Amino acid sequence: MKIYDIAILGLGTVGGGTYRVIEKEQEQIIKKEGFGINVKKVLALDYSVDIPEEKKAHSIDEIIEDPDIKVVCELIGGKTIAKDFIIKCLKAGKTVVSANKELIAHSWGEIQNAAKESGAGFYFEASVGGGIPILRAVQESLQANTINSIYAIINGTTNYILSDMEDHNRDFDEVLKEAQALGYAEADPTSDIEAFDSTYKLSILSSMAFGVHIPIEKIYREGITRITGQDMQIAHELGMTIKLLAIAKKNGNEVEARVHPTMIPLSHPIASVKGVFNSIYLNGSAVGELMFYGKGAGAFPTASSVVSDIIYAINMDRQHKYADYLDSDNTDVRFSTNWVSGYYLRFSVADRPGVLAKIAGLMGKHNVGIASVIQKGTAGDDVPLIFVTYDTAEEDLNAALTEICLLDEVNEVSASIRVEQ
Ligand code: HSE
Repeated sequence: MKIYDIAILGLGTVGGGTYRVIEKEQEQIIKKEGFGINVKKVLALDYSVDIPEEKKAHSIDEIIEDPDIKVVCELIGGKTIAKDFIIKCLKAGKTVVSANKELIAHSWGEIQNAAKESGAGFYFEASVGGGIPILRAVQESLQANTINSIYAIINGTTNYILSDMEDHNRDFDEVLKEAQALGYAEADPTSDIEAFDSTYKLSILSSMAFGVHIPIEKIYREGITRITGQDMQIAHELGMTIKLLAIAKKNGNEVEARVHPTMIPLSHPIASVKGVFNSIYLNGSAVGELMFYGKGAGAFPTASSVVSDIIYAINMDRQHKYADYLDSDNTDVRFSTNWVSGYYLRFSVADRPGVLAKIAGLMGKHNVGIASVIQKGTAGDDVPLIFVTYDTAEEDLNAALTEICLLDEVNEVSASIRVEQ
């Protein structure tokens, strides 16, 4: 029976998890696949698991020059040294498995070209949705479908924060601090709470689903830092909840891609996705609606996808497929920004007779239909007045808001959250 040698670069949470999953699951892998996996070399600065001295590599060249090692797992993360190592390995003909969504979203044309040059493979299932096997499902199980929409929760940290705000009626700052103390949020949470992480993942996922490159620069991004406990509570009163959704839609050659806090009905299946869990809800022309659910991060769920890629790469040997659309310049694709969605708008107003009629009038003037109105609190100079609109084009909504903000009675637009039904 054949045992394939591999190498792991980086032995942090995911690297350590991968090493342990290979050890623990070796027997059943052999039973199902007819071959085993041996981690021959590990290149790391710190070792999160104990490994024998002879497995410790001292340079990337030691791995590249080892003819037995055919697959290298890059689990270092970030864009600098990880990219150099990946390109070097690919150029040397080693197949690479990576979970590095930031790097892949920024540089996958370049990475794929390096792979093509030598005939090596490049696999990145773990980069989107952690343990959820979504990329392979899109590539290998949904070929019969034109995928036309994706609604996804692909960041566990923000979903944990929003779920906690919803369930315990708390404000963002308080929950973020607690999430950091519990290790659910990073010490520097910017990438998660400002939605960079979800944007990288949506770029990868939507490109593969639609078969055209959706670069990160074309994805609208808005984080969750301005969501308040009050908005979450009002959402509930309206039979809704707020999620950080990664949304991509394709209609003919027109594509829209955006990541922002979104109000969705509590009855939508994705509304029940709580805590650090991820979910991808998509629509395919033949299959209809599909929903994937699982752990989007963590040592073992992510290792589950990494090890699956290693096995897949071994099975593919030199028959790797390349996604040529990933480095195309999309001349025939039109990226739209005048999206249509409902809006939840919370104004701070001076509660004088006629204020509601003035705001409603300006909305009507710009084709913004009102679905409901709520006034909170008693009369005063700073009263929350909430409108939920019907589906409206962004340009119409912005034109209405510009004029509404000029009204004497309107202090500010305190919240503006898109609504998807
Ligand atoms: N920071 C990510 C999250 C995990 O919170 O989902 C890794 O992709």
